[in-house]
Amino acid sequence: MTRPDRGYGRRMPLTRSLDDATVVITGASSGIGAATGYALARRGADVVLAARSEEALHRVADRCRELGGRALVVPTDVTDPEAVVRLAARAAAEFGRIDAWVNNAAVGTVGLFDEIPVIEFRRVVEVNLLGTVYGTRAALPWLDAGGGGVLVNNASVLAEVAMPYQSAYNATKHAIRGLADTVRQELRVTGRGHISLCTVLPATIDTPFFRHAANHTGRELTPPPPVYPPEMVAETIVRLLRRPRREAYAGGAARLMGIQWRLAPALAERVLGWYAARTQFGPGVRLDATGNVFRADAAAERTDGWQGRRAQLIRLTAAFGLAAAGTAVGTVAAMSRRSRTERG
Ligand SMILES: NC(=O)c1ccc[n+]([C@@H]2O[C@H](COP(=O)([O-])OP(=O)(O)OC[C@H]3O[C@@H](n4cnc5c(N)ncnc54)[C@H](OP(=O)(O)O)[C@@H]3O)[C@@H](O)[C@H]2O)c1
Repeated sequence: MTRPDRGYGRRMPLTRSLDDATVVITGASSGIGAATGYALARRGADVVLAARSEEALHRVADRCRELGGRALVVPTDVTDPEAVVRLAARAAAEFGRIDAWVNNAAVGTVGLFDEIPVIEFRRVVEVNLLGTVYGTRAALPWLDAGGGGVLVNNASVLAEVAMPYQSAYNATKHAIRGLADTVRQELRVTGRGHISLCTVLPATIDTPFFRHAANHTGRELTPPPPVYPPEMVAETIVRLLRRPRREAYAGGAARLMGIQWRLAPALAERVLGWYAARTQFGPGVRLDATGNVFRADAAAERTDGWQGRRAQLIRLTAAFGLAAAGTAVGTVAAMSRRSRTERG
C-alpha cells in the first residue's frame, strides 16, 4: 500500500530563492499551468512557458510580466522529445540556468474503454506519460549542472484512485506516479539526491480541461465536484518548490478519496464509480469530438472553467458529500468487521 507522503527524507529545495529562480512549465497556455506561471511571476521568478498555442502563451507571458516576473514563450509539443530538449536549451540560454521544471501538459479522452479510438488512447499516453518522460529527461542534466533543483509532475488524484470513462487518462496518471517513485530512487542511489522529484495529486479543478477533452460519450461533460480553483494547485506547486515532498494532494476531496481508497479499496472503487458515472455528465447531448488531443483547441475558451455554473456544481458537491459519507460508514464497517474476524 503506497501512502502519499509524509516525509521526503533529506529535502532539497531550490538552490536559490524563487525571485532568482528559472522555472519551466509545460501546458502553460491554460488552466493550472497558466495559474502556476502567475503564482511564480508574482514572486519574481523567471518563467519559461511551453505548450502548443503560441498566441495563448503570449497572453500568459504578458500577464506574468505585469505581475513582476520575466517570461519566455517557447511553443513546444511535448510529444516531440527533440523539441523538449530544445525547450530546456532555450530556457537555459535565456536565463542562464534551470532551477525547476513542472511537467503539467496533459489531455484526456472520455468514453468507455472499448469505445475510445485506439489512436486517441495512444496519443493520451504520448502527451501525458511520454511528455513527462521527455520533460524529466530534458530537465535532469540542467538541474544537476546547477547543483540541484526540483521537478514537479502534475499528476492527479486519478494517479491513486480510478474513475469510469477515463481509462486512458487514469492509466497515464498512475504511470506518472510510478515513474516518479522509480526515478526518485535512482536519483538517490546515484548520488543525485540534490534533485527532488515531487508528484501533485489534485482533486477536480476549475479549468477548461473537460471542455478540451475528447468526448465519446454522446453527452456533455461536467467536472465531478467538489471543484477547486487552479490557483490552489499553483500554490501547492510553489510550496513544493520551496519545500519538496514526495507527493502532495491539492484539494481536501483528493486527500479524502486517497484515504478511502487505501482503507477500503473495493468499496471506494464501487462508490467512486457510481458517483463519477452520475456526476461526469451534464444534460446536453454532444457529438463525438477529439477536443485538443491532437491539436490545440483554438475554439475552446482558454481561461475560464465552470464558475458560471455554480448552482449545478453546488448540487453535485452535495452528492459528493453523500457519497463520501456513505463510503466513510462503509469503511468503518469494513474495518471493524475485519478486526472482529482477526480477533475471532
Ligand atoms: N482540471 C482538473 O480537474 C485536473 C485535476 C487533476 C489534475 N489535472 C492536471 O493538471 C494539468 C493541467 O490541466 P488543466 O486542468 O489546466 O487543463 P487545460 O486547461 O486543458 O490545460 C492543459 C494544458 O496542456 C497543454 N497541452 C496539451 N497537449 C499538449 C502537447 N501535446 N504539448 C504541449 N502542451 C500540451 C495545453 O495547451 P495547448 O493546447 O496550447 O498545447 C494546456 O496548456 C494536467 O496534467 C491535468 O492532468 C487537472
